Amino acid sequence: MQSDNLAAVDWDEYRRDAEQALATAATPDDVEAVSVAYLGRSSPLKLALREVRDRETGMRLNSVRQSLETEVDAKRNEVERAELDRRLTEEVVDVTLPATLLGPVRPRRRGSLHPSTQVRRDVEDIFVGLGYEIVDGREVETTRYNFDALGFPDWHPARSRHASLYLTDDTLLRTETSPAQIHKMESQRPPIYMVSIGRVYRRDTIDATHFPIFHQFEGLVIDKGITMADLKGTLLYVMRQLYGPEREVRFRTHYFPFTEPSMEPDVSCFNCGGAGCAICKHSGWIEMGGSGMVDPYLYEFVGWDAEEYTGFAFGMGVERTAQLRHRIPGIRPFWDDDLRFLRQF
Ligand code: DAH
Repeated sequence: MQSDNLAAVDWDEYRRDAEQALATAATPDDVEAVSVAYLGRSSPLKLALREVRDRETGMRLNSVRQSLETEVDAKRNEVERAELDRRLTEEVVDVTLPATLLGPVRPRRRGSLHPSTQVRRDVEDIFVGLGYEIVDGREVETTRYNFDALGFPDWHPARSRHASLYLTDDTLLRTETSPAQIHKMESQRPPIYMVSIGRVYRRDTIDATHFPIFHQFEGLVIDKGITMADLKGTLLYVMRQLYGPEREVRFRTHYFPFTEPSMEPDVSCFNCGGAGCAICKHSGWIEMGGSGMVDPYLYEFVGWDAEEYTGFAFGMGVERTAQLRHRIPGIRPFWDDDLRFLRQF
């Protein structure tokens, strides 16, 4: 608009026009359009303000500007609020609608627990159900706890640097979960009913059945009057929980430095029921780990009267348990992080 036209503008009318346009505005966009047209940088009002020479016209135009601004602001608030009210009542989300009806959804794949974790949790549940306490062990041990306290003779091959992973001369990555027994005995008097589950480390070359890291679960019971019958009954119960109610358990004599007598429990083959198959190497029985009655040497080591208590202990492999339950042929898939393997569980 030219300056001479500006001089001819009737500002009362201008203001009325603006107010009328504002009155019909129904949305924030409408209000914005009115604001741009009547108050924007190239609106007649702004152009006229730029040309103002005398004080009186300036005051006049500024008062028009101010009142229009106030009205635009008020109207803006009004339509925004109305818009919000409308959306709150109209755009109700029906949370019970199936997601597929609301538009394209990307299917979300559920993760699953690692088979070792599943066994670990099952073992914990079984023993918690029996009233046992779950205790943590230490992955870095001293030779005192890993070997001496457990009665390993000096010449025992597990002490060798070729068999175990040493950090210093007398600290190593534990080779079994059994040191947890000693820590527990040092911290608490019987009755002790505990299970400890965790990683153990051996300097094994990786092949189908060996890996330098695996998991064990370790049990220890010490009380007055505990006998081998308690050990057998407990392991029978646990094996049936893990492998099915039909399972039988048998014990073969063996040697462990910290139990006397020591036994290896076998569970009847859940694949062939004892008739003989590839899984049980045609014997009908599957080796499960180690067990025995706590050697009195351990009581003496922690300073107890060896005549006062008796107890039993056992230790088994977590991966081995998962392998048997799911017929997983080797230990390597447990550490490969291959989703094609992990998604099957
Ligand atoms: N620590 C033994 C191993 O790794 C397993 C074991 C045997 C644990 C006898 C025990 C036990 O608690 O009493 O081969």
